[in-house]
Amino acid sequence: MSKYKDAKRITTHILKAMKDDGEKISMLTTYDYSMARIVDDAGLDVILVGDSASNVMAGHETTLPITLDQMIYHASSVVKAVKRAFVVVDLPFGSYQSDPKGALKAAIRIMKESGAHGVKLEGGSEVKESIKRILMAGIPVMGHLGLTPQSIYKFGTYTVRAKEEEEAKKLLEDTKLLAKIGCFGIVLEKIPASLAKQAAASVEVPVIGIGAGPDVDGQVLVIHDMLGITKEFQPRFLRRYLDLYAEIKGAVQSYIHDVKAMEFPNEKEQY
Ligand code: KIV
Repeated sequence: MSKYKDAKRITTHILKAMKDDGEKISMLTTYDYSMARIVDDAGLDVILVGDSASNVMAGHETTLPITLDQMIYHASSVVKAVKRAFVVVDLPFGSYQSDPKGALKAAIRIMKESGAHGVKLEGGSEVKESIKRILMAGIPVMGHLGLTPQSIYKFGTYTVRAKEEEEAKKLLEDTKLLAKIGCFGIVLEKIPASLAKQAAASVEVPVIGIGAGPDVDGQVLVIHDMLGITKEFQPRFLRRYLDLYAEIKGAVQSYIHDVKAMEFPNEKEQY
């Protein structure tokens, strides 16, 4: 199905070739060793160690509290399991906004201490100097525009971004800027599908959408959402492939029953 299924390792060059060939890029978040083994074995192209770990792993309300040390912990667990996928790691809130030197330091820590293959950060022209500085050190950078959760207190809500002309214009300008300065890819989150289509067509680097419609170069979802581990979060763009919340709850209830009824362990399950 994929021209690149036998590739030993997905690289930024292969991701660009996928865009050129019209082959869609598959990307999911993952935060731990065991899940990373499964998604890599399944043939996923890109693993994002997202700062959504702050929500789905740590239970915070937003992505803001997660620290650089915690991102490195998640990323190094993922990297140990992965043979083929490209692993990109979110720079957490506060690690790249204040100055380019600090941004480079944070990116270097992620690369050195986790073994990941690239970093992702949120924003356009405002963070241009930080991106350039990181790129100069030879670290692949992925951009992230549209709904950028680290700015949730500025936006006030998680609703669709760039519906108004001015914000749409800035998003298109930022998309071109990020591609021009050397980002290997750009995530567009929760924007109108027609705008995402225009953005993806305007640059040569892969554009990956989440809630951005089908006319981009690939799709990304938070793995806990697509597996149905989270259950309250139900945006229109989310397709659930499993209802793991119910599956796991059912399995745990069966276990509780078996323990209480002394049906576990049985004769074969002991020494
Ligand atoms: O952290 C994350 O999960 C993300 C995706 C929503 C793209 O940035």
